[in-house]
Amino acid sequence: MQALACPLCFSSLTELRCSSCAITYSQLGDLFWLWPDPVNALLDWRNRYNMELARIDRDFARAQATDSTFTTTRARVAVEQSALEQYKTELSKILGNLNLSEPLAVELHTALKTQLPDHHGLNSYNRNIFRDWVWGTEENEAVQQLLIATLSGHVKSAPDILTLGSGAGRLAYDLHTGLNARCTYALDSNPLLCAVAGRMFKGESSSLTEFPIAPLGATAIQHTLQTPPVRNDIHSICGNALAAPFSANQLDLVLTSWLVDVLDASLSDLLAHVSSLLKPGGLWLMHGSVSFESSDPSLRLSTAELAEVATEEGFEIIAQRDDELPYLQSPYSRQKRTEVVHTLLARAPSPRTTRPVQATWMPNWLADISVPVPMNDEFQEQLTTTRIATFIMGLIDGKKSIADMAVVLEEQRLMPILDATEAIRNFLTTMQAERTAQQRKG
Ligand SMILES: C[S@@+](CC[C@H](N)C(=O)[O-])C[C@H]1O[C@@H](n2cnc3c(N)ncnc32)[C@H](O)[C@@H]1O
Repeated sequence: MQALACPLCFSSLTELRCSSCAITYSQLGDLFWLWPDPVNALLDWRNRYNMELARIDRDFARAQATDSTFTTTRARVAVEQSALEQYKTELSKILGNLNLSEPLAVELHTALKTQLPDHHGLNSYNRNIFRDWVWGTEENEAVQQLLIATLSGHVKSAPDILTLGSGAGRLAYDLHTGLNARCTYALDSNPLLCAVAGRMFKGESSSLTEFPIAPLGATAIQHTLQTPPVRNDIHSICGNALAAPFSANQLDLVLTSWLVDVLDASLSDLLAHVSSLLKPGGLWLMHGSVSFESSDPSLRLSTAELAEVATEEGFEIIAQRDDELPYLQSPYSRQKRTEVVHTLLARAPSPRTTRPVQATWMPNWLADISVPVPMNDEFQEQLTTTRIATFIMGLIDGKKSIADMAVVLEEQRLMPILDATEAIRNFLTTMQAERTAQQRKG
């Protein structure tokens, strides 16, 4: 616990208070809420929680409106409906201490584009919860054995461990017990996963319903999550891996498992931060995919490039290997993924000063709310597009057809009637396609 520091200036904390920044960080239930901007992070996750509740309500309403003539379909949909209600209750129980549940208008978030990238939704990694704590030990044990074998002979005894992007906490739990760690910190940005991890570390049971991607039989299965509590120090922290709340040179091992491929930062920046957290000679253990579906060519690193970047950051590469492993294989789903997973172990360079990492997508006028927002080309284009879209939307009154609307556009001298017809039809086609895609994703 002594290792915890302010995620803004990395000075040590006294009872979660940073005297340099005059901020007292909070513990929500047992969960450490250690974000550089703790209030914003709470509002942000409250929004995401509400988005998730709205999605569940939408699915519920859709199920209610089902008027299939087949009794089997009606029976299945009825089960799904009550499972959705159940799921809402389960979420609110697990997240109860986090005060995330005040309702806010969903339309507002959508309009303000606070609807987050998929990998940051409350539900984005919910299958990890079931893989970690429900589906059996095969997948988890395979990874635990592989990583402990890789670390063997390199890691000191009773190490202090930090897992970044630790998900629902199983690997942190397995390494903590398998390496007989002195202290382990499991940090993730997603409060649902952090809350589940925290409960499991303490041996508390939770109920959570699984909705398999491609159901083998039932479409909703209610599970009880429970495991024996862990002895010694193991803690769940909600925060940003790019500003992990530790002062320099505190940890013997930092694990990033399936993180570098989803992180909104360059690998060099992440490694500069990781190396500052490690004691001299400490270890960085990377496991998972190196790059995954990135549209940015500079981020689609090969394993050789991964080693090159680590070496450039001063790390000494100890081991690198590929293994074909089952991945997120639910016994309740027809979908069974297998991945060729990369593992890299490297030793940290000499000590560095801790500094936070700037997320690649966050320019200074977003990070600092007092900096003027620039009127760049993208915003100018967005402004014009939004004005046209608002004008067309304003014409929809439940009575006018596309042809009627095109007449209005021509009367307003905005476009000749033929162009206007085509433009309105294209606009509405896109909206309809987005709506259908959203419903499918649902
Ligand atoms: C693919 S999951 C991997 C989870 C777990 N490590 C495992 O091996 O199964 C990626 C995790 O990284 C977390 N994550 C993504 N960006 C993060 C960030 N900036 N800080 C902390 N966690 C982050 C996500 O919430 C998610 O739990």
